[in-house]
Amino acid sequence: MALIDAKDRYGLLSRFFHWSMALLILWQFTGVLARVLAEDTALEKFFWSTHKPLGVVLLVLALLRLGWALVNLSRRPPELNLAATLGHIGLYALLVAIPALGLLRQYGSGRSFDAFGVALFSGFEGRIDWMVEPGNLLHGNLGWILLAAVIGHVFMVFWHRRGNKEQDVLPRMWG
Ligand code: HEM
Ligand code: HEM
Repeated sequence: MALIDAKDRYGLLSRFFHWSMALLILWQFTGVLARVLAEDTALEKFFWSTHKPLGVVLLVLALLRLGWALVNLSRRPPELNLAATLGHIGLYALLVAIPALGLLRQYGSGRSFDAFGVALFSGFEGRIDWMVEPGNLLHGNLGWILLAAVIGHVFMVFWHRRGNKEQDVLPRMWG
């Protein structure tokens, strides 16, 4: 299978981005749900401990994926309809905005921060409010909206499988 996309199927690199991010996002939401539903348990400790560094990895993957999607725009499979186009744009926007707001808040808090042993911020005295407040207001809420959007996305994929062959988009991304 080719690395680049074609009109009838996504290529290897797009599939790599799609499915690796789907798995990592599943991990991320297991942690978020454990934090809310299973506070102070071993499950929460295990999954939540990776929330910030994994969020940074997801941000990097989302930006690379966005770049790759733009490079392939004229040759990837056509969107089924306007709702699908808007839905996919919305998913991309959330995949970038949520970790970016988290990271901005992290920087503004003045605390040092490293992701999987790589030092990203060294920290400083005080706090930068305009960097912290958007994250406080939006990071968690947009995160829950992403969870709902992903569930809707998967539902629509299987909904379309019931229709005619042109509507069945799963083989474009899987198999
Ligand atoms: C795609 C990546 C990410 C997703 C989907 C995500 C999602 C979420 C969600 C849904 C919550 C709310 C949990 C609750 O209601 O208790 C949350 C909380 C939090 N996230 Fe993230 N997050 C991501 C990346 C990051 C990053 C990169 C950072 C920091 C570097 C971060 C830091 C935090 C912190 C400190 C909280 C607890 C405070 C709060 O609820 O806002 N997250 N995240
Ligand atoms: C974390 C979860 C997920 C996210 C954020 C996500 C996001 C996206 C996005 C943005 C696209 C547009 C193509 C692209 O640029 O890559 C897409 C396409 C697609 N996704 Fe997902 N996806 C997720 C999970 C899943 C799952 C679990 C399935 C399996 C049922 C699935 C099936 C598909 C299919 C079949 C397409 C092609 C749709 C078409 O060509 O119209 N996705 N996904």
